[in-house]
Amino acid sequence: MMTIKVGLLGLGTVGTGVVRIVEGHQEDLKRQTGTGLVIEKVLVQDLTKNRSIALDRGKLTNRPEDIISNPEIDVVIEVMGGIEPTKGFILQAIENGKHIVTANKDLMAMHGPEIMARAAEKGCDVFYEASVAGGIPIIRTLIEGFSSDRITKIMGIVNGTTNYILTKMSKEGADYGEVLREAQQLGYAEADPTSDVEGLDAARKMTILATLGFRTDVTLSDVSVKGISRVSKEDIAYGKRLGYEVKLLGIAERVDDQISVSVQPTMIKKSHPLASVNGVYNAVYVYGEAVGETMFYGPGAGEMPTATSIVADLVAVVKNHRLGVNGRTVNIAYNEKKLQTDEQITSKYYILLHVADKAGVLAKITQVFADNEVSLESVNQQPNPVNPMAEIIIITHQANQASMKRVLKVFDELEVVQEIKSVYRVEG
Ligand code: NAP
Ligand code: HSE
Repeated sequence: MMTIKVGLLGLGTVGTGVVRIVEGHQEDLKRQTGTGLVIEKVLVQDLTKNRSIALDRGKLTNRPEDIISNPEIDVVIEVMGGIEPTKGFILQAIENGKHIVTANKDLMAMHGPEIMARAAEKGCDVFYEASVAGGIPIIRTLIEGFSSDRITKIMGIVNGTTNYILTKMSKEGADYGEVLREAQQLGYAEADPTSDVEGLDAARKMTILATLGFRTDVTLSDVSVKGISRVSKEDIAYGKRLGYEVKLLGIAERVDDQISVSVQPTMIKKSHPLASVNGVYNAVYVYGEAVGETMFYGPGAGEMPTATSIVADLVAVVKNHRLGVNGRTVNIAYNEKKLQTDEQITSKYYILLHVADKAGVLAKITQVFADNEVSLESVNQQPNPVNPMAEIIIITHQANQASMKRVLKVFDELEVVQEIKSVYRVEG
């Protein structure tokens, strides 16, 4: 029986899971692929570090060329993360005819087209299922499962760390910093968790999903991004009272042939299926013109779920190899990219204002909305328990982003508005 030799770049959280699955599921994998799979070499930084798996120490190396230039190795699995030197290693491995499996959303969101183009020229596969939503097979679903449909909306909880934090804040009233530390200890957070909490990790994943879903070349700079670092317990409590949960949502929409992609903390109606996605779980809601509503749910991070997607990609490479079709990919981003303007992006909004508690203030506030053609769904006023002022909580009807920006600019300068405490998009 033929044996496929695999080089692993990285033996951290995800790399360890890959070794466990390749070794633990060897018989099943052999039956599916008709091939033996062997982890031949593993690149790490620190050869002396204690590892939680019993791997032959002779397989460890700190010399990348032992993998990327090793003629024995057929497939390189990249789970070391980062842009450089990783991108250089991957391009060199492709140059040497190796197929690539990666979990690296940073790299695929920023340099995916270049890597895919180079791989196609060299007849190599590049698969990256684990880069978005860990254990959920959403990339294959968008490319293959929805190939016959026209997707108009993708909404995703695609960052496990922030969903873990928001869930603990909502359910236990936990403190933001404390929960972030827990998520780091559990191996969910990125090496620099700023990219999780400031929404960049989710934005990279939405770049990939929007590219595949809308079949157009979405880049990271097309995504408007806001993270969760300013979400307060108060926002979560007020949202709950009105029937909403706060979630960091990636939202990609297509109206006619114009698209928008954003990541932001969003108030989502409790009745929407995304509102009950808790903890490190991820979910991707996809609306297709023909299929209607669908949702894909599962663990979005962690050792074994992420490794499951990686080893599934490895199986796909091996099956392609047996059929002699490695590297025969079709360019999926064939639509011309047209971005929506602020006038075209519409949603409902939640706004919490701290205002002077005196006669006529509410009328002044509602007039600003009317002047900018933003219609209101509900307005609630309550005294602030601590300061001598009132809190006004407003939910708008559908309004365009340009009008909302004008409203907020006026509030910024309006004497009776002490503070624009929070503004959230509302969904569901
Ligand atoms: P990690 O635990 O930090 O592991 C990184 C591994 O790469 C370590 O083994 C490290 O070696 C090695 N490494 C890093 N830089 C290196 C370099 N310059 N030269 C040689 N070895 C190097 O990372 P991870 O959490 O497994 O994540 C890996 C990738 O998967 C990232 O792209 C991440 O975004 C992605 N991902 C992670 C998850 C998750 O749940 N963690 C989920 C989906 C996708 P040492 O062990 O010697 O330090
Ligand atoms: N830091 C990422 C998350 C890992 O929390 O979702 C999975 O990509």
